[in-house]
Amino acid sequence: MSKKIKRIGVITSGGDAPGMNAAIRAVVRACSYYHVSCYGFYNGYNGLINGNFEELDARSVRNIINLGGTFLKSARSKEFRTKEGREKAYKVLKKEQVDGLVLIGGDGTFTGGQIFSREYDIPVIGVPGTIDNDIYGTSHTIGYDTALNTVVEAIDKIRDTASSHDRLFFIEVMGRDAGFIALNTGIGAGAEEILIPEENLGLDRLLDSLEKSRRSGKNSSIVIVSEGDKIGKNVFQLADYVKENLPYYDAKVTVLGHIQRGGIPSCFDRVLASRMSVKAVELLLDGQKNVMVGLKDDDIITCPLDDVIHEKPKINKDLLRISEILST
Ligand code: F6P
Repeated sequence: MSKKIKRIGVITSGGDAPGMNAAIRAVVRACSYYHVSCYGFYNGYNGLINGNFEELDARSVRNIINLGGTFLKSARSKEFRTKEGREKAYKVLKKEQVDGLVLIGGDGTFTGGQIFSREYDIPVIGVPGTIDNDIYGTSHTIGYDTALNTVVEAIDKIRDTASSHDRLFFIEVMGRDAGFIALNTGIGAGAEEILIPEENLGLDRLLDSLEKSRRSGKNSSIVIVSEGDKIGKNVFQLADYVKENLPYYDAKVTVLGHIQRGGIPSCFDRVLASRMSVKAVELLLDGQKNVMVGLKDDDIITCPLDDVIHEKPKINKDLLRISEILST
């Protein structure tokens, strides 16, 4: 039988995402509701290693549901990747009598959590928080919806100036390993072409498409480039390549960068964070471990961390077809 949970620890780890504060709030409030104590550890796994934490009660998380970033701060801990680092973290948890952890983050966070849990028999529950949406086992991650809206708003602004000057813009969006942001914002903002890591459409096809669009009477165009795309040129080289091959294009580059990670979380992300995090606490109290909460068809589900870590979520390739049809 699993040990009764009396104290839960929570961290935010990896790249931050809008809605992480709403997630922490929900963990803390759920703990309070179920009469278990909650410790918030700072700077991701580093807080576990260094014993940098604070006891949180329902009132410590007031007025944060609407804030971007994470008040617990985040980090990609190198030390936690080592056996020694994880041993230090275990000693802190043991000393502080923390019986289980809620890990809010992405696949790096869950990989570390899974190893740790197996080494020291500490139950962990993952809550997916990353703007990239690149997590298996959930249709949406916390922060993704807000990031999509931030990106679409930025592209709309670029479109104004692109069309005033008859220019071609290459806009780089985040997504190291996945094209979710690029694909969906590309359609949402009416891009000409969308370059994603999952599907290399090739340079020839890009030139072809831009040439065709010029011939069809378009004066300005937007190309969305995912930072992890596999076309073999970075966004600046890509713009130069197009200028060399299609000299009538006045091509410019905008890298949206970390603006995509900040901002007020959307209502969708706040609700998602709240639902997932309450469930995470309930799962721990129910004796469950090593699973991630996810969203599927508007239900909160669970998925083993083993699957989350080893599987890749699939993009909806039909969106590429839709984009092709709509950019004629
Ligand atoms: O965590 C997601 C992400 O925003 C990626 O899209 C991006 O490649 C990476 O983080 C950037 O990380 P950092 O902020 O450490 O440069």
